[in-house]
Amino acid sequence: MIITLTLNPSVDISTTIDHLVPEQKLRCAAARYDPGGGGINVSRAIHRLGGKSRAVFPVGGATGSLLEQLVAEQQIDFQTVPMAGWTRQSFVVTETSTRQQFRFGLPGPAWSMDERELFLNTVLTFPKPIDYVVISGSFPPGLPADYCAVIARIVRQRGARLILDTSGEPLRMAVQEGAFLLKPNLGELASLVGVDKLELDEVEEAARSVIQRGWCEVVVLSLGPAGALLVAKTGHADQRIERFRVPAPTVKKQSTVGAGDSMVGGMIYALSQGKSYEEMLRFGVACGTAATMNPGTELFHKDDVERLLNWINQSGKKVFLPVADGIN
Ligand SMILES: Nc1ncnc2c1ncn2[C@@H]1O[C@H](COP(=O)(O)OP(=O)(O)OP(=O)(O)O)[C@@H](O)[C@H]1O
Ligand SMILES: [Mg+2]
Repeated sequence: MIITLTLNPSVDISTTIDHLVPEQKLRCAAARYDPGGGGINVSRAIHRLGGKSRAVFPVGGATGSLLEQLVAEQQIDFQTVPMAGWTRQSFVVTETSTRQQFRFGLPGPAWSMDERELFLNTVLTFPKPIDYVVISGSFPPGLPADYCAVIARIVRQRGARLILDTSGEPLRMAVQEGAFLLKPNLGELASLVGVDKLELDEVEEAARSVIQRGWCEVVVLSLGPAGALLVAKTGHADQRIERFRVPAPTVKKQSTVGAGDSMVGGMIYALSQGKSYEEMLRFGVACGTAATMNPGTELFHKDDVERLLNWINQSGKKVFLPVADGIN
């Protein structure tokens, strides 16, 4: 069983316009509505690959009902936690003349004490057994920084593996409880180890220090178009640390929205299929990069993932080509 938690989900509205101008009335193209938020996207990615997960998220007000309907249309298993505040909305406008994307995110509703309790209880009472719990995305305003750590503790007590794709103080506090896998990008890893910026030759050491501090077993550092780096504890008794790097194939990029979530979804799916860390990383990069080939919040197509995975698996390998006829 894979559970994804989205604490600050949204209804994503996307549209296009030729170009943005201030003051004037802007006539946008027809809107597209998608369910949004890290965990929900991870669940969508897992579903698209043929796997199963349950997406757990709060909903409130009319926008909450809309979110529930949009998630139901995705045909993923989900469980909502009712809240008083209205579910937030995000607005993405793509300027067709420049292909620039403008992303407007609104804060979500704050949770009352009772609502915080209710959400924790939902995690506490998931039917057993749970294999993986993913916490992905931002947090509602006003939530105490240690809330994620409380969830991390419950997940550990329940014997599940925790995957964290979040940032800032909540992440710093949650890792004290010990996670299974972290998927930071460069900025998130820098902030986790307490520095302003990390140079490329410093990232491996930073990821290793995260593992040595006992914060997690696996770090997958995503590097956008440069692919990803995995640093992990080996299963051996000598507790060595292994490292593995996968380049991202070069593709025609449309939108990077959901690339990180697609990568996380792909990696959990691979793990649930009993794949090694190396295979997991290759698959994750293939899913992340495949997601950049589609506009808006569309995530990836499975056949693109297969093609890219093939390319990744071939890269760096020597192959012998047949000599073509008719060339002297
Ligand atoms: N421009 C790109 N070209 C090819 N692949 C990309 C590109 N951007 C992202 N990816 C793929 O997606 C993966 C995750 O992307 P990235 O490192 O940007 O994550 P992130 O910063 O967490 O993104 P997000 O904004 O979705 O949270 C990368 O490891 C890579 O495989
Ligand atoms: Mg991310």
